[in-house]
Amino acid sequence: MNEIIIKTENLTKKFKEVTVVNNLNIEIKKGEIFGFLGPNGSGKSTTIKMLCGLIAPTSGNAWIHDLSIINDGEEIRKEIGYMSQRFSLYDDLTAKQNLIFYSKLYKVNEDILESKLNQIMDLTQLTKEQNKQASKLSGGYKQRLSFACALIHDPKIIFLDEPTAGIDPVARKEIWDLFIELANKGLTLFVTTHYMDEAERCTKLGYIFDGKLIAYGLKSDLASSKENLEGLFVRLTKEQTNLLAHNV
Ligand SMILES: Nc1ncnc2c1ncn2[C@@H]1O[C@H](COP(=O)(O)OP(=O)(O)OP(=O)(O)O)[C@@H](O)[C@H]1O
Ligand SMILES: [Mg+2]
Repeated sequence: MNEIIIKTENLTKKFKEVTVVNNLNIEIKKGEIFGFLGPNGSGKSTTIKMLCGLIAPTSGNAWIHDLSIINDGEEIRKEIGYMSQRFSLYDDLTAKQNLIFYSKLYKVNEDILESKLNQIMDLTQLTKEQNKQASKLSGGYKQRLSFACALIHDPKIIFLDEPTAGIDPVARKEIWDLFIELANKGLTLFVTTHYMDEAERCTKLGYIFDGKLIAYGLKSDLASSKENLEGLFVRLTKEQTNLLAHNV
């Protein structure tokens, strides 16, 4: 399980003159759950979009296995699953039809399609809801369906941008139990969240503030008996906010 599967090297994104991701350096190994945290607007979604090959970095580079996000975006998209911060479901299709749509997009082998659909619906507890129109699913089931769509082609890595935002604590726990089950089977997860209980369940964490990574490491190294993760992030945010105020 020591294989490095995601690596960034001074990854930077500027929109016009504004640097929103600033020289990011991280390494994520196979089977890790990497929690990427930070205040609103700190650069999390922008980082994910670069890693998925959806937007180009301004400078620096990143690799998924040995595929570079600058040159190999198309190959990378076959290897990864991506659940965006906004739903990318088709409202007028049923849950199952959404899954079929994504399976065709990702060219899932027709011979195994029916068994694959059943397996994914079983895994994400969507079987009973499969014939409901996506627009009529509750928030939690929409999240499950988005996750199922991102998993349909058996990616080795999955990027989840706030996958549990706005859903109830029990559903969040169930979805996280599933993340952990899949990570134990070798899936690598890159997850953004604002929930500290979810951060606690990650194996590695990064905390980004104003585009800069200000805390990074194994969860066991970042949290201590004196200061839990929430205390650490609150303290770092205050320190950085004070620094910014003094530099104006
Ligand atoms: N296409 C774009 N053009 C210009 N600015 C952008 C663009 N996309 C994002 N930004 C800006 O980049 C910064 C980082 O945005 P990003 O969406 O990565 O933040 P985030 O950490 O995901 O925030 P949130 O927690 O609210 O989802 C923000 O200031 C945002 O306004
Ligand atoms: Mg975001």
